[in-house]
Amino acid sequence: MNIGALSRRPATAGARRGTARTIVTAVLMTAACGIGQLVATTTTARAATAGALSAYQERSHKPVDCDRVKCVALTFDDGPGKHTDALLGHLAAYRARATFFVVGQNVAANPDIVRRAYEAGHEIGGHTWSHPNLTKLSAAEVRSQFDRADQAIKAAIGVAPKLVRPPYGAFNETVRMQTERPLVMWSVDTLDWRLRDSAKVTDKTLKSVRPGSVILFHDTHPTTVAAMPRVLKALSERGYRFVTVSQLYGGKPPRLVYGRD
Ligand code: NI
Repeated sequence: MNIGALSRRPATAGARRGTARTIVTAVLMTAACGIGQLVATTTTARAATAGALSAYQERSHKPVDCDRVKCVALTFDDGPGKHTDALLGHLAAYRARATFFVVGQNVAANPDIVRRAYEAGHEIGGHTWSHPNLTKLSAAEVRSQFDRADQAIKAAIGVAPKLVRPPYGAFNETVRMQTERPLVMWSVDTLDWRLRDSAKVTDKTLKSVRPGSVILFHDTHPTTVAAMPRVLKALSERGYRFVTVSQLYGGKPPRLVYGRD
C-alpha cells in the first residue's frame, strides 16, 4: 500500500488561521488493501475564521494551535472492536486525542464504547455501514452506506460524523457526490493490518511521522493497540501533540484530507 500526497499551506511562522490556504493539486496513487486507483484533484480550502471553532474544540479546554506546535492526527479505522477499550486507556494516559473512523454495524453492536470515546474528546468519523469498496456500488448504494452509518453513530453519540473515510481509501466522483463532508485519507500508512507486529508497527510509525501527519491504524488489531504506549511515549518525547483530524485543520478540514506534511 503506497500513498503519496502533495498538500501545502503557508508554512511560515506568520501563517495563521483566517488566512486563505490552498491545497495544491494532489496526484496520488493509492493501493489500499489491494485496490489501486489514480486520483487527481485540486482543492482550495479556507481556514477557519476566528471564533468558528469545531464542536471538538469547543469541548476542549485548551485548543491546540497546530500552526505553532507539532501536531499529529492518529486515526483508527474499522472499529469499534474488542480492543478499543484498551486503546482508550492508552490514549487517556497521554492525554492524546484521536479520530476513530467507525463502521456503522460495529457501532450499532457496541454503541457504549463509541459514546465513551466521544465523551473523552476523540473525534468520531464515519467509515460506512459495512465496509464495502464504494467504487463498486451505485450512487444510491453509496448514499445508503453513509446514511446507515450516520444513523448508528447519531444513535450512539447524538450527532452525525463530520468526517468520512471511504474503506480502502477507495473513492471516485460518484462517491464524492454522495456527501459534502471531507473524505479523510492519510499521509502515513503504518501497514498495521499486514504487519500484525507491535514492534514493526511502532518502528514504521516513528520513522514515518512528520508534523501534520494523518496516520492510519486499525484498532481491530491487538498488535496495533499494544504498540500504542510506545508510539505515544516516543512521539510525546519528540514534542508532538495528539489531535483530532478536525483540530489539525483548525476545525475546517479541506474537502479532501491527506495530512499536512
Ligand atoms: Ni477500513
